[in-house]
Amino acid sequence: MKILVIGSGGREHALCWRLAQSDHDVVCAPGNPGIAAIARCLDIAIGDLDRLVQAAVDEAAELVVVGPEAPLVAGLADRLRGAGVAVFGPGADGAQLEGSKIFCKQFFERHGIPTARFRACTTVAEADGAIDALLAGGARGVVVKADGLAGGKGVVVAATADEARTAARAMLEDGRFGAAGAQLIVEERLHGRELSVMALCDGSRFVLLAQAEDHKALHDGDVGPNTGGMGTVSPPGFALTPALIEQIEARVFTPTVRGLKAEGINYRGLLYAGLMIDDAGQAWMLEYNCRFGDPETQPVLARLESDLGLWLAGAARGALPSGALSWDPRTAVCVVLCAPGYPRQTVTGATITGALDDDGQPRDFGPDVILFHASTARTSDALVTSGGRVLGVTALANDIHAARQHAYQSIAQIHFEGLHYRRDIGVRTSSATDGERT
Ligand code: AMP
Ligand code: GLY
Repeated sequence: MKILVIGSGGREHALCWRLAQSDHDVVCAPGNPGIAAIARCLDIAIGDLDRLVQAAVDEAAELVVVGPEAPLVAGLADRLRGAGVAVFGPGADGAQLEGSKIFCKQFFERHGIPTARFRACTTVAEADGAIDALLAGGARGVVVKADGLAGGKGVVVAATADEARTAARAMLEDGRFGAAGAQLIVEERLHGRELSVMALCDGSRFVLLAQAEDHKALHDGDVGPNTGGMGTVSPPGFALTPALIEQIEARVFTPTVRGLKAEGINYRGLLYAGLMIDDAGQAWMLEYNCRFGDPETQPVLARLESDLGLWLAGAARGALPSGALSWDPRTAVCVVLCAPGYPRQTVTGATITGALDDDGQPRDFGPDVILFHASTARTSDALVTSGGRVLGVTALANDIHAARQHAYQSIAQIHFEGLHYRRDIGVRTSSATDGERT
C-alpha cells in the first residue's frame, strides 16, 4: 500500500519504520534524516494544508496517517477526505477532544466518563471563584489548564491556591498562551499513578494498543519541569490487571466511542487516553489526545507484530479488521536524548556523532535496538540537533533490566554537546507516585 505519513518527529519515524517493515511504500512529509533512510521525504511543512492535500492526490496515496495534533485540529483530515483520500486521523470535530480542554471535559460530563471536578472560566474572577470553591469542597489541590493547544505546556499542577491564581492570571490577563489561554479550566487535582492507553478507532469500534508508561518530568526521580516525555516503557512497570483494562474499556472507551457517534462525529483515528489510577484502583480521565503519543508510539510499535498498515487503513475506511492485534511479549524501552536547555530554552545546531556509520547510513546498534530520530537535521557534512527531543533509543529484550541495558549501552555510543537524558527510564515498578511534578 502507498502510505503518506505526515510529521517529522520520533513518533512519525516509528510509524514509518513499522509500516516499511510490512513492505508498504512509505512517503513522509516533511520527515527527518532518520525517516529519509527508510522512506521518501517531501519537503512540505505540517501547517501547509493545501500542499499536503495536493501531495496526497499527486502521490495517489491509498492512506494518509497524520502524526501531530495541530493539522488535525486545523481540519487536514476533512480536507483530505474531501479530496477522496483515506485518512487515519479524526476530522476537526473529533480533534476538538484535544484542541479544546473545555470541549473534552464537557464531553466527559455528557457521557458519564469519570473525570476530575472542574469549571470552565473566561475571567480572573471566575477562576478565583472556581479555585476557592474546589478547595472549599475538599479538593486536595487544583490544576489550571489553558483551553487550547499549548504544546504540552498549558497545564499547571498548582502546589498552593496562590500558585493557581497566578497561573490563571498569566493565561487570562498576560496572554501567556495566546488565544489558547483565553479560556481555561480549573479542576480538582487527582492523585495516583498516570497511565496512557491508546486505541485505534473506526467510528464505531475500537481496539486497544499495548500499554505504555511515559516519564514526563525532566529529571531522574520524577523531579523537574514537565516535558513532552523523556522516555517510555511498554508494558508499564506496574501490574496492569485485566480488571483495570476492562474498567478502562467499559467506563472510558466504550462511552467515548458511543458518545462521539451519537454526537454525529465519525472518529476514525487514534484515541489516546491520559488516565490517573487512584489508590483504590479507579481510573479517572485527565485528557484525550487525538493522535499517537510521543514517545509512547516508539516502544508500542516496536512490539507490534501485526501489519500496522492494514489496521490503520481499516480504521480509516470505517471497518477495523476483525481479530486481535498481535504483540511481541518482550519489553520495550525508549530513552529520549535531549538538547541542552530543553524544555525551556533549547539550544540546537550541535553536531551529533555515533548515530550514523562511516557511509552516513543509520548505524546498526544490533537487532533489538532502533534509533528513532525526533529533532535532527542534516547539514552538508553532519547530522545536527534541531529541537529539544533529539533522538529516542528504543530497545527490546526479555525483561526490563535487559532492555534498559541495551538502550543505555547504545546511548553511550552517541554524543552531542550538552546531551542529557534520564537514567531511570523503566526503573519505577509498583509504588504510586501521586502525580507529583515539581
Ligand atoms: P494534560 O495535558 O491534561 O494531560 O495534563 C498534563 C499533565 O498534568 C498530566 O500528564 C498530569 O501529570 C498533570 N495533570 C493534569 N490534570 C491533572 C489533575 N486533575 N490532577 C493531577 N495531575 C494532573
Ligand atoms: N507523551 C505525551 C504525549 O504524546 O502527549
